Amino acid sequence: MNATIPIHLAPPDSTPAWGDAPTSRAPGWIYTDAPLYQREMEQLFYQGHWCYVGLECEIPKAGDYKRSQIGERSVVMVRERGRPGQPDQIHVVENRCAHRGVQFVRERTGNARNFVCPYHQWTYKLNGDLAGLTFRNGVERVEGDGSITRQGGMDADFQLCDHGLTKLKVARRGGVVFASFDHSVESFEDYLGPDVLRYFDRVFHKPLKLLGINRQRIPANWKLMQENIKDPYHPGLLHTWFVTFGLWRADQQSQMVMDAKHRHACMISRRNEGGAGAVTQGVTSFKENMQLHDKALLDIVPEAWWKIGDAVPTVVMMTLFPSLIIQQQVNSLSTRHIQPAGVGEFDFVWTHFGFEDDSEEMTQRRLRQANLFGPAGFVSADDGEVIEFVQQAFAANPQARTISEQDGTGVHNTEHNVTETLIRGMYSYWRAQMGV
Ligand code: FES
Ligand SMILES: [Fe+2]
Repeated sequence: MNATIPIHLAPPDSTPAWGDAPTSRAPGWIYTDAPLYQREMEQLFYQGHWCYVGLECEIPKAGDYKRSQIGERSVVMVRERGRPGQPDQIHVVENRCAHRGVQFVRERTGNARNFVCPYHQWTYKLNGDLAGLTFRNGVERVEGDGSITRQGGMDADFQLCDHGLTKLKVARRGGVVFASFDHSVESFEDYLGPDVLRYFDRVFHKPLKLLGINRQRIPANWKLMQENIKDPYHPGLLHTWFVTFGLWRADQQSQMVMDAKHRHACMISRRNEGGAGAVTQGVTSFKENMQLHDKALLDIVPEAWWKIGDAVPTVVMMTLFPSLIIQQQVNSLSTRHIQPAGVGEFDFVWTHFGFEDDSEEMTQRRLRQANLFGPAGFVSADDGEVIEFVQQAFAANPQARTISEQDGTGVHNTEHNVTETLIRGMYSYWRAQMGV
């Protein structure tokens, strides 16, 4: 007798209800619910939003390309020489062959005259147009009597122009490339809004120089990384490095700025001299006797461009929803790209950069300070680890909730950093978008 094999049908997309709890109390299932995550990809990464792709300085010559990612979709950013007298163009196309779907670009970077898919050799121009395909007119066979018959081939009405790669809308500003699958998305400038845009322009104000790339996979939901950089009071508590050497602490002059929709944010602060004080009392990560053997790590040289209005911040951490963090921590600069890889993990790609006109000394300084960041950074290793612990806890108990109520439950810009307002702001936007 055959055993009965139970058939499990996939449950419908039944996102649990947030309930009456305020936005400051997020349920754990927002980090663990797989159907909800799929909706996030559609609604936050593939529609209505701009996502980071890379820096123009990563593809300096015509034909240079870089494989990148938007949500879980692989995309390719490529530079095409402009017509005579015209600037180069940068295209972003989906890395999915129009024929049967192969991710045709496998290298992280390269140079190409066109893209040829390895499977059946369909060939695309750099702008994504289909240039040609094999056996479009079939294959000729010479019969025994000398006549020719044609085998195979596409129908006569098959048009190359109807079957190119998916082309994304591209926005370039200050040497940074963003793209959207959604051609009706608002302008990039409107997307950021004026308050956040001025901090974006503060960093990306002259030609960039690529310094290096780190990659890591973090076993946590992508939103936890955004939260981490919208949480200005953890650095002075979690990170021994910051609290001891005074790069970021709760007693610093700080400002929190959001766009009108509260999805993007800037954490703006000015470092102090470190050492013991009221904010280090009882803080276990503060190590008064910890010394640097190589003081060059803290060889900080102020730069003229740090000034904005009347303020001279030494650190500005920006979160551009949904997938980008921009870091200026004294002389160290990077973009950090969130590339989701399932509901409970993401790849985190750090692109360290400086400016084309930096002296060699400044380049070395930026690289030295980059030791604080990246997968094994003196500071950032802590962040990857704690958000992994958050994920583990909520995976085991998705009905449990967070409490993000430092500085109240409202959403507002602040003149200090003892606050979770930016997290509440992001989730108020997220809830509106996701309908939960
Ligand atoms: S899948 Fe690309 S040519 Fe067939
Ligand atoms: Fe941190």
